Amino acid sequence: MISAKQTKSVHSLKSWLFTPGTKADRFGKAADVHADVLIIDLEDAVAPSAKEEARGSALHYLEGLSSNHHPCALRINAPVTRVGLDDLQALLRSSAQPDYLILPKTESAGVIGLVSTLLREAGKSTEVIALIETAKAVAALEEITGADIKPAALLFGAADMSADLGAETAWEPLLMIRSRIVQTAATAGIAVLDSPYFDIANGEGLRRETVASANLGFHAKCAIHPAQIAVINEVLTPTAEEVAKARQILVINRQGVGSVGHQMVDEAVARTARLVLERAGIPAEELVAS
Ligand code: GLV
Ligand code: MG
Repeated sequence: MISAKQTKSVHSLKSWLFTPGTKADRFGKAADVHADVLIIDLEDAVAPSAKEEARGSALHYLEGLSSNHHPCALRINAPVTRVGLDDLQALLRSSAQPDYLILPKTESAGVIGLVSTLLREAGKSTEVIALIETAKAVAALEEITGADIKPAALLFGAADMSADLGAETAWEPLLMIRSRIVQTAATAGIAVLDSPYFDIANGEGLRRETVASANLGFHAKCAIHPAQIAVINEVLTPTAEEVAKARQILVINRQGVGSVGHQMVDEAVARTARLVLERAGIPAEELVAS
């Protein structure tokens, strides 16, 4: 199956919308509001009594996707729990092939390796995303990013992390953890997705946090409400001026050392320019040709 994901790198997917697995009528909403990725959630957005029903709806939806479907991720329950193991078995037995499989409460490279291997054995190209949301996961970051089988991305879960640490779910208390995640992921070239912003009525707070998280190095921000997507896309999409400047920098860089405006262009500046174009979704082949 050729999925939309294969034309877009995970690094360029900016907005990820969580949708409860019980709300099949809302699965199409992610595409409607221009979220880059639909996340169907079987974990915390689903009550224990509704787990089976949500699993059934999610797999039914995923099995019916066309080859050019909107990028789609499935968050199962943690595979070290009974319900998570049931989710995984059901996925492996089905013909469903989400682009990404999000593993909550990931605390070791072993789980990522095991699940990735099972997915390959089942003939699926689904890539694993590790949700980093416990103190133990932070302690295992080097192991997770240094393993032979690596996740496609790390996703930071602020709500569970706060609960695990006894910290407030606010920017400052979690800044060190966010920075650790970004730094460790960068050692392996792994994408980093930031936690949703939980106050859905506070658009300004969402904007501030999305800017701060992009400034730290996060590639994307998750959302728990469709109304949050426009702000996330606006903040994380490079402007036409930024793209034009990045292109100019790369032209100068190919010619040697020079300047764009008042900025000296060296390899470090060129690396940042490549990131801007990657965030703008401009494929690498086009960079070479430009
Ligand atoms: C997400 O799962 C979170 O805990 O914030
Ligand atoms: Mg969580």
